[in-house]
Amino acid sequence: MSAGDPTGTATSVAGVALEHPVLNAAGTAKSRDDVARLARSPVAAVTLGSITKEPRDGNAGEVYASRSGYAVNALGMPNRGSAFYRDLLPELAATTRAAGKPLIVSVAGFSPDECGELAHLAGDGGADLVELNLGCPNVWSEGEQERIMSFDPELVSRSLRAAAGTAVPVGVKLSPLSDPVLLAEVASAAADAGARFVVSCNTFPNGLVVRTDGRPAIDVGFGGVSGGAMKPIALGQVAQLRSLLPTEVDIVGCGGVRSGQDVRDLLAAGAAAVGLATTYWDAAEDPGVFTDLLADWLG
Ligand SMILES: Cc1cc2nc3c(=O)[nH]c(=O)nc-3n(C[C@H](O)[C@H](O)[C@H](O)COP(=O)(O)O)c2cc1C
Repeated sequence: MSAGDPTGTATSVAGVALEHPVLNAAGTAKSRDDVARLARSPVAAVTLGSITKEPRDGNAGEVYASRSGYAVNALGMPNRGSAFYRDLLPELAATTRAAGKPLIVSVAGFSPDECGELAHLAGDGGADLVELNLGCPNVWSEGEQERIMSFDPELVSRSLRAAAGTAVPVGVKLSPLSDPVLLAEVASAAADAGARFVVSCNTFPNGLVVRTDGRPAIDVGFGGVSGGAMKPIALGQVAQLRSLLPTEVDIVGCGGVRSGQDVRDLLAAGAAAVGLATTYWDAAEDPGVFTDLLADWLG
């Protein structure tokens, strides 16, 4: 605790100072209004995106199913595309900066080159940190599901190398990896290719929620599992990654954060910060969830 940190909660990610460790996770802010709401909220930093090169409508029909203790989504990264955000980013960065909060921009390229292009765009637009989302499971093209890039160490490496020279630190967001050997390979590829932080984890791919009539609750069928059920998975990923990555590579823990104890557990496992999506989404984006979480954590 110091004079500039009266509550003793200060932390940092890749050298960017945070008043405390609690952030919104990617997927929960896409618009000017979303960012303004989070800038007014108690989050320590605002995460925007994921942003893709081309605008995306996302998947059609039912894309989110929340149940007791978990949710499944297949939003498919709806967003207005890089040209729109290129113009808007300086304003969004000014909004969060005026509130004393860094802006993290999550970008999702569908190739290493696109990742590099989007990272530079975000860095030049005023992001304080750039998160390469290599772990989205919900991208479908003509009925086929796209490869989850973070399952391939080579793609992780090439994506980060394509982002080299970005004006601000760049990190990667990973899908949860159940093979410990592959996780070690991915961690090593990320560190060697210059990742300054790792966000772990994205949703667990291809969960299935069915209605009482047996039909999928999500219209594309499968979706990424998030919420409370992800807590032990996220905790296990963070703990493994902390022992696999060099100490200077920070970890943002993400998955199933609902209580102060969840924050404590992820920090104890080695996260420098924690993000949450489902708790905020299920509360209809009421920033009060962050107030309550911080009170419970600090309680
Ligand atoms: C509705 C929704 C949309 C999401 N969209 C994105 C996204 O665009 N980019 C991304 O990296 N992760 C996205 N995620 C994943 C979250 O950022 C987070 O990694 C995951 O949901 C686990 O955290 P949680 O249990 O707090 O939701 C999304 C999650 C949800 C629930």
